[in-house]
Amino acid sequence: MNRVPIRLRLTATFALAMAVVLAAAGFLLYHHLAASLDRTLAQGLRARAGDVSALVQQADTGLRDARLNAGNTGFAQVLDARGRIFDQTPTLGRRPLLTPEQLRRARHAPLVVGRTRRAAESVRLLAIPVSAQGRRLVVVVGTPLEARDDALATLRTELLVGGPTALLLASLIGYLLAAAALRPVERMRARAAAISANRLSERLPIAASRDEIARLGETLNQMLGRLETALERERSFVADASHELRTPLAHLRTEVELALESPRERDELEAALRSVGHESDRLSQLAEDLLLLARLDKGTLPIRRDEIDLDELLDGVAVRFERRAGDAGRTIESDGSGGRARVDRLRIEQALGNLIDNALRHGAGTIHVSAAQDGDWLEFHVADEGPGFPADFAPHAFERFSRADQHRGSGGTGLGLAIVAAVAQAHGGSATALNARGGGSDVSIRFPNRRAYHGRADARIPEPVG
Ligand SMILES: Nc1ncnc2c1ncn2[C@@H]1O[C@H](COP(=O)(O)OP(=O)(O)OP(=O)(O)O)[C@@H](O)[C@H]1O
Ligand SMILES: [Mg+2]
Repeated sequence: MNRVPIRLRLTATFALAMAVVLAAAGFLLYHHLAASLDRTLAQGLRARAGDVSALVQQADTGLRDARLNAGNTGFAQVLDARGRIFDQTPTLGRRPLLTPEQLRRARHAPLVVGRTRRAAESVRLLAIPVSAQGRRLVVVVGTPLEARDDALATLRTELLVGGPTALLLASLIGYLLAAAALRPVERMRARAAAISANRLSERLPIAASRDEIARLGETLNQMLGRLETALERERSFVADASHELRTPLAHLRTEVELALESPRERDELEAALRSVGHESDRLSQLAEDLLLLARLDKGTLPIRRDEIDLDELLDGVAVRFERRAGDAGRTIESDGSGGRARVDRLRIEQALGNLIDNALRHGAGTIHVSAAQDGDWLEFHVADEGPGFPADFAPHAFERFSRADQHRGSGGTGLGLAIVAAVAQAHGGSATALNARGGGSDVSIRFPNRRAYHGRADARIPEPVG
């Protein structure tokens, strides 16, 4: 059944329901007419039986009286208790209309003989007991059933011909309607079959109606839109990544070629090797960053939380940058506010390191690194006293490969902040870049604090997805 097209299944179900309704309606109509005809016949028979009884009781004219017969297809017979014909209308033969058994019953109470044969026709009889002329008699009146039977036969024929015709017509209309309703689905299917990864900008055709199928089409088109955006992002990520890989690789190549070109002094060779080493560091850092972002995209960036002392964590990170800051005449101040938290130490160190690196590279003045607990949330801030983020750049700061000075080339790849956001996200939170009121940038990471789990280090803590 599942392989049968929907429009056929719909039509079959509809036809079945329609057939039941038509059959029930026909059955009711037929029986209603039969009952109504029977009622009329019964009234006629009762009236005539009354008339005949009156005549018999008068005992003068007898049933040959023209009144009973004029224009009447009915007939009457009066039987005595033994079944002998006492009197009758002229059209009847010499045989009693009732069988002895019927006569016996009719002597005590009125009796209806629904259908019996007289001569060549079907008739209905009504027999009633009458006391007249000093005897107990039975008056039998009858009427032919031909007109009743004809009317019912005509109705039966009409129902048997008209019913199936109506059923066929209704089913055909049902089929055409179902086919018309489903046509947009077929058009959408055909287009969907033609859409490939290279043609994701195409959309499914949507009917002008505002029905469920049009809404399904719109929803599918929105999904295609999201897929297109995701694929577009993926492609530009790969393109940007290869672009970023090309620069250090080209540097490496130039250094090696220069070193090999002519005999070189030991100092020159050493300098070249140092530069090669520097470029390889950059390449492996880039590879690691890309790997981390790719794992985040797959939803598999794992977080290993440890109970840590925030002051110790911030001091550790600040110390790593102390020399660089000192060389640039800058200072780093850290304040963990004496708190403790459950975080992935390495990832947080990496994120804070990226932010301090940014503050050293793109900012100016003292660098403030702080951690604070705000209710159930933990918040890290890295602020500096430099120029801050250009206003139109701030919304894009966390995008991959985005730099405010895209064309001037500050030496960075534009992945630092994307990784900060990824680490915040992996902890179930987010990152924000702001310019402080007094000037300077202020980048923060904020995520739910898991200190509530303190002391249950063995318990499995569900990690946020993504
Ligand atoms: N503290 C800051 N002050 C001013 N601008 C900043 C600051 N931090 C980041 N930016 C701007 O945001 C951009 C993106 O920073 P991000 O850390 O993502 O990349 P990057 O530092 O250029 O390169 P990478 O960190 O990958 O080596 C930077 O290029 C810079 O223009
Ligand atoms: Mg950076």
